[in-house]
Amino acid sequence: MTSLDSTLFEKARSALNYSYSPYSHFAVGCSLKTTTGKYYTGANIENASYSVTLCAEAVAIAHMISQGEKKIAEIFVIGSGDALCTPCGACRQRIREFASDDTLIHIGDKNGHRATFTLGELLPHSFGPHNLEHTHD
Ligand code: THU
Repeated sequence: MTSLDSTLFEKARSALNYSYSPYSHFAVGCSLKTTTGKYYTGANIENASYSVTLCAEAVAIAHMISQGEKKIAEIFVIGSGDALCTPCGACRQRIREFASDDTLIHIGDKNGHRATFTLGELLPHSFGPHNLEHTHD
């Protein structure tokens, strides 16, 4: 199913309000639902030392992991700009660690436009945990 769960949408929309983005003025909100039905959210957290910035997806994933959950069922990322906020390359890899090729990634912009992709579409032929199987043999 590619339609967006309204709870997932509302939670990302509200996470957007907590963005700390005084440098880019680009707020990002993220919400994810786990395969066990729990929701976690995050907003981007910038830093005067720019490269220390945390993306909203990284913050949402940190919340999930710190509560003992490990599997993302679907995720929604919304940005405060006019363009749909697709996850950056690093965040696609972060999502990959806890998701599978068919996991839905919903994206949105400030005007209410949305689109849905699978992780496999946004990060084809990914390097993931399976690549490191058997490394301890
Ligand atoms: N940003 C995210 O939070 N997630 C992304 O996937 C793309 C970029 C944030 C980082 C920075 O605070 C701002 O957007 C502009 O790059």
